[in-house]
Amino acid sequence: MHSFSYVDGSLHCEDVDLEKIAAEFGTPAYVYSAGTIRGNYQRLDAALAPLDHLICYAVKANSNLAVLSLLARLGSGFDIVSGGELFRVLKAGGQAGRCTFAGVGKTREEIAYALREGVFSFNVESESELERINSVAGELRLRAPIAIRVNPDVDPKTHKFISTGKSQNKFGIGIDRAAAVYEKAASLPHLKIRGVQTHIGSQILDPGPFAEASQKLAALVAELHAKFGLEFFDFGGGIGIVYDQALRSGTGTWWEREENASRITPAAYAKAILPALRPLGLKILFEPGRFLVGNAGALLATVQYVKQTPAKTFTIVDAGMNDLIRPALYEGWHEIVPLRETPAAPVPMDLVGPVCESGDFFAQDRPLPPLAQGDRIAVLSSGAYGFVMSSNYNSRPLLPEILIDGKKIHLARKRQSLEDLIAGESPA
Ligand code: LLP
Repeated sequence: MHSFSYVDGSLHCEDVDLEKIAAEFGTPAYVYSAGTIRGNYQRLDAALAPLDHLICYAVKANSNLAVLSLLARLGSGFDIVSGGELFRVLKAGGQAGRCTFAGVGKTREEIAYALREGVFSFNVESESELERINSVAGELRLRAPIAIRVNPDVDPKTHKFISTGKSQNKFGIGIDRAAAVYEKAASLPHLKIRGVQTHIGSQILDPGPFAEASQKLAALVAELHAKFGLEFFDFGGGIGIVYDQALRSGTGTWWEREENASRITPAAYAKAILPALRPLGLKILFEPGRFLVGNAGALLATVQYVKQTPAKTFTIVDAGMNDLIRPALYEGWHEIVPLRETPAAPVPMDLVGPVCESGDFFAQDRPLPPLAQGDRIAVLSSGAYGFVMSSNYNSRPLLPEILIDGKKIHLARKRQSLEDLIAGESPA
């Protein structure tokens, strides 16, 4: 099955013409392919089959209830980072007992909520958090299951804003201090040591850093297992995706084309980490976000104006940086394609949004097919960290999200209205 491809010159998501989606729901809008999410989950699950494992989808990548319920039905667990994400997982039919709760700033309220719901494990990021979880669990007369996030000091070779496993990052506890912090955890009466966790960063395209982290941590995990009887090692997320040429044409299935283009595949990832992780004999948890949903999403937009200046051609669309902030924040590169295929030669342009910031662009000096007012485009690979990072900046309503499954079209979130924009506010 193709997720995004041209059929008779018209861009489709699965069996649905995206012009039809644009006409029915308006633009800008996010569309997601259920088949792509399912395919990605199953490919990763299959590659990890040699391990006793559980995929805990990183909810932060895309937390729409329709995406969460789809993954829950596939058997996925969830990696959550807030009380809000736990609430979403439960509303989508997921189980707290399959959730790991990460994040450096958990509040007492969030800890209590997660404890009452029975989360599988807290991924603890500091000694003071360990003490706080112990104290909240004591008040509730519960024992809190914990894993300590160990920072292996590995360079994941990714953008500096999404690199987490180096010693200068705020995350986790340094590998040299880990054993001492586990001793401390063992001494706290309301904690139950359940595992070890790590996560080195995001959008990692080279299996090397994963291999390095697995090797660096395996000995420590084995030592802690011998001492405290662990149940799992959570290896985090971070598998990167192909952003350029996301709409690969050619023969074969979409995932074959994707695997040909990508530098990391589920098989290459598994190959890099199996030698160190398999001998541990522990359950291994994984927290992929982007890999599962990134290439399953596209942002649809309509050209409003074409503005010619002596320096450049600006194509102004109705989606902005408030809808997809990745280009502005991480210099993220997303492939942009017209909904109607054209043989016309590409011309260099800046494709920009309506927001009052020079950082409001989707492409700069990029050759794209000539576009005119009313033409529609898709910004591809925006299923991860797209809608979830959007805001109401410039008082722009949040976009609708539409999940496509074969021929089926599901409005997973309706567009905010102007009334929604001011809900909860009152003039003084
Ligand atoms: N586990 C932990 C502890 C994490 O911090 C993250 C992502 C993940 C798992 C999932 O990582 P993934 O498999 O999606 O790479 N907004 C940025 C990415 C931020 C990633 C934050 N942490 C972007 O748009 O590139």
